[in-house]
Amino acid sequence: MIQIKDVTKLYPAKESGNGTGKDASSIHALDHISLHVAQGEWLSIMGPSGSGKSTLVNLIGCLDRPSSGEIWLDGQNVAGISSADLNRVRAEKIGFIFQQFHLIPFLTAVENVMLAQYFHSMTDEKEAVEALARVGLGDRAHHLPSQMSGGEQQRVCIARALINDPRIILADEPTGNLDAQNEEIVLRLLREFHQQGRTIVMVTHDPVVARLADRRIELHHGKVASQEIFSLADEGTLGASRARRDRGSRAHGSARRVARQPGD
Ligand SMILES: Nc1ncnc2c1ncn2[C@@H]1O[C@H](COP(=O)(O)OP(=O)(O)OP(=O)(O)O)[C@@H](O)[C@H]1O
Ligand SMILES: [Mg+2]
Repeated sequence: MIQIKDVTKLYPAKESGNGTGKDASSIHALDHISLHVAQGEWLSIMGPSGSGKSTLVNLIGCLDRPSSGEIWLDGQNVAGISSADLNRVRAEKIGFIFQQFHLIPFLTAVENVMLAQYFHSMTDEKEAVEALARVGLGDRAHHLPSQMSGGEQQRVCIARALINDPRIILADEPTGNLDAQNEEIVLRLLREFHQQGRTIVMVTHDPVVARLADRRIELHHGKVASQEIFSLADEGTLGASRARRDRGSRAHGSARRVARQPGD
């Protein structure tokens, strides 16, 4: 489904301009990374700030192109295709859920969802309202983002991500700005998407949230430093994990295998 082969992403280092003579070498956001995500798999990505998590998700989501390497989505290498083709692949295959929501502030909830329809094919207001109803926002369709809570805005994002029926859901810290109750709603929706057979790649800083996935990888300095494969999450995992964490103890017990990968 998603095959990443030897991908490197370089960003130009900021020019110091302060006379310190610091070198202007590039930032290796991703450093020869290879990764396979199976169809229907739920992968979580953890790692310190700046380790390349968002860069990786943005490359998979066709928001950007790698400096080198290949990114295969559904049998197509998107690493070298034109911007127009990237936009088309993104509209057809990808649903994005961001921590910062990225809703258009002057469009209502339903208009934000319809904009995603527009970029895919054509708008259908009835369908857009139904998508909002599915995330519990049927009565908020004509509110502006500023008139909604963070949790509601995130659910608009999810309706927008889902409206074109994408096979791949990319979620970059989807619950990072939410309270516990909205976090649970969003995680339940993600679990539903997983059960529908969609492939999910989710960045999170929360080890309990990461554990809902089938597998967790950890990035360090743009490389996969370790991975952990989880056994099938049972229905109670979310609540049970949360309760464990609330008691201040670490979630343990469902790890089937822990595999350390060589440094590069
Ligand atoms: N557009 C950019 N221009 C220059 N450098 C960038 C750009 N985007 C990211 N970087 C750099 O690339 C590295 C990886 O960034 P990235 O956003 O992928 O990290 P992250 O793991 O998502 O971090 P966080 O947990 O803080 O979101 C960082 O050193 C960052 O400063
Ligand atoms: Mg990030």
